Amino acid sequence: MGKTIIISNRLPLQINISENNKVEVTPSVGGLATGLKSFHQEGDSIWIGWTGIAEEDIPAELEDEVEAEVKKQRCVPVSLTSEEIEKFYYGFSNRTIWPLFHYFMEYTEFHNEHWEAYKQVNEKYAEAVVERLNDDDVVWVHDYQLLLLPDYIRRKKPKVTIGFFNHIPFPSSEVFRTLPWREEVLKGMLGADLIGFHTYDYERHFLRSVNRILRLDINFNSVNVGNRVVRSDSFPMGIDYKKFRKAAKDHKAQPRSENSDIQKKLDYHKYVTRNTKLILSIDRLDYTKGIANRIRAFGYFLEKYPEYQEKVRLIMLAVPSRTNVPQYQLLKKEIDELVGRINGKFATINWTPIWYFYRSMPFDNLIDLYTSSNVALITPTRDGMNLVAKEYIATRTDQTGVLILSEMAGAAHELNEALIINPNNFEQIVDTIKLALEMPEEEQIRRNKLLQKRLKRYNVEKWAKDFMKSLDNTKDSKKAFKAI
Ligand code: ADP
Ligand code: G6P
Repeated sequence: MGKTIIISNRLPLQINISENNKVEVTPSVGGLATGLKSFHQEGDSIWIGWTGIAEEDIPAELEDEVEAEVKKQRCVPVSLTSEEIEKFYYGFSNRTIWPLFHYFMEYTEFHNEHWEAYKQVNEKYAEAVVERLNDDDVVWVHDYQLLLLPDYIRRKKPKVTIGFFNHIPFPSSEVFRTLPWREEVLKGMLGADLIGFHTYDYERHFLRSVNRILRLDINFNSVNVGNRVVRSDSFPMGIDYKKFRKAAKDHKAQPRSENSDIQKKLDYHKYVTRNTKLILSIDRLDYTKGIANRIRAFGYFLEKYPEYQEKVRLIMLAVPSRTNVPQYQLLKKEIDELVGRINGKFATINWTPIWYFYRSMPFDNLIDLYTSSNVALITPTRDGMNLVAKEYIATRTDQTGVLILSEMAGAAHELNEALIINPNNFEQIVDTIKLALEMPEEEQIRRNKLLQKRLKRYNVEKWAKDFMKSLDNTKDSKKAFKAI
């Protein structure tokens, strides 16, 4: 077997050019990048994708340096112009597919020129792949920005083995069929040999759409497309359990001395307001994450259970994301206002109910937050998986801590011992916060033991291995199908 070629829109690294004309490299944020990075680091893969910067924004004299930085991580850059970024990335990917697949139909826009750019950029990726492809290589395409890519590669290289993994929900066929380009999108995905989803539900939705829209017969979880068999299956993505575990243990043995804002806040929390419990929330700032409702629910909690005022604090980390899309800008404004309102209403000399950070954080700070918080409050209205929930559990080395998790996150299917809530049920969230804060330690430990055991076993390595093994089997049955 040859090498694995991973393709995703965003590479695991982000390039920026600083004001004094220096190349800066930071890790990308988001489940796909953080999860797959561990698989990539261990193996013999190359990773093709975008560096997060527009082609025009890289000064000519820095091009070689950028390329060298990307190459260091066995990555291959696909450069996108600002126009492509506007229409393909902010446009079709994030104003059409993202809201539609997360059931935000009122945010979904249909523009023909965005669709044209989407096709054109998928074609660009196909060329970048084919240029580096040997006959025995395996191609693994990722996520909703590249739904057409499996078919585009297949047309150029009919025999190649292609896997596709969708990291976000696949909506019900009732929702999916509203897309004007629904046939082309399904045909694009069906260029793969194996199509993976985080949950069984997403897979069923996809197969139902294939059946209804393309009128193809589904045989359990496979579809005959011309003379090919395409299979689908669910593979819930895990985390690099060891990495989070080790980081948490190291952190406990030797707390870092870095003088960051987070560190100062956590020290204050630990030494000055030591009887105050900490509730953590971490997400990209995205309307699918239910952040505004979470803040409202926390405010309501303080009102409904006033005995908790000055006894609990919400520490909220939101990473800037897709800032050119109007809904993200509006959400940012709404969150700023809500945080201001609740802090204004409840704060005392010694206590601010919400500590809010709008920025990306180094890994060490994330570990600080995970290990210092009594409760993690994760309330998306829709989420393909949600790795933050898994990371929180992995870092609880003494097995205390309570995870409150929305049933709308893919992760809820596996993390049964978490306190599962419906993110639209305010009373339930508020009462569950109380339950979490009052849960006896033995009960926390009982639940986390089971959760950790599962996360340790079904980690990101196992996820990737299972997918690859299944892809290999699909290839074998493809041969058998031809022989009949
Ligand atoms: P999504 O993929 O929608 O962003 P996930 O919860 O699956 O949601 O993945 C988010 C990933 O980004 C996690 O691996 C998490 O550790 C990382 N992350 C989240 N917030 C930050 C932050 N402020 N700084 C750095 N990394 C972050
Ligand atoms: C989610 C998506 C990824 C995406 C990430 C960050 O995890 O599934 O495909 O890369 O969000 O979003 P961004 O738009 O910054 O790439």
